[in-house]
Amino acid sequence: MTKTLFHILNGPNLNLLGQREPEIYGRETLDDIEQSCRKWAEERGVELTTRQTNSEGTLVDYIQNATEDASALIINPGAYTHTSIALHDALAACKIPKIELHLSNPHAREPFRHRSFASSVVNGIICGFGAHGYILALEAAFGLTHGQTVSKNSDI
Ligand code: DQA
Repeated sequence: MTKTLFHILNGPNLNLLGQREPEIYGRETLDDIEQSCRKWAEERGVELTTRQTNSEGTLVDYIQNATEDASALIINPGAYTHTSIALHDALAACKIPKIELHLSNPHAREPFRHRSFASSVVNGIICGFGAHGYILALEAAFGLTHGQTVSKNSDI
């Protein structure tokens, strides 16, 4: 059986989780979240690569890396969600199942967060469920890679 490898990418300022606006993003640190994800993955025999960067170019590099060996990509692009055409283009070129993830619900926040350059080039979006969203995203990625989830965007 071929291995299942998911990449989880976190963008700018997500290294500050736990101390950054906890009323919006919660009190769990990125390390806490990644540990929960690793536990989930171990229980299902899924391999996981987790990365965080504050740099837009590095995020693009990481998306390109995912195309090389990942079965699916889960990405919280942070504020680059709302600004980055480079992110959009990298995701468009990445031909594996992709899930956009946000801890908060950007649609219930400031208008500048309502636009996402990622949403049109991912299979699905999870937002507003705090740290648990990462587990929901893993479940969704598992469904997409094991034929249990139908995505209208399966050809993107
Ligand atoms: C975020 C939402 C973005 O609007 C914000 O810039 C972030 C975090 C989230 O996870 O809720 O940095 O992606």
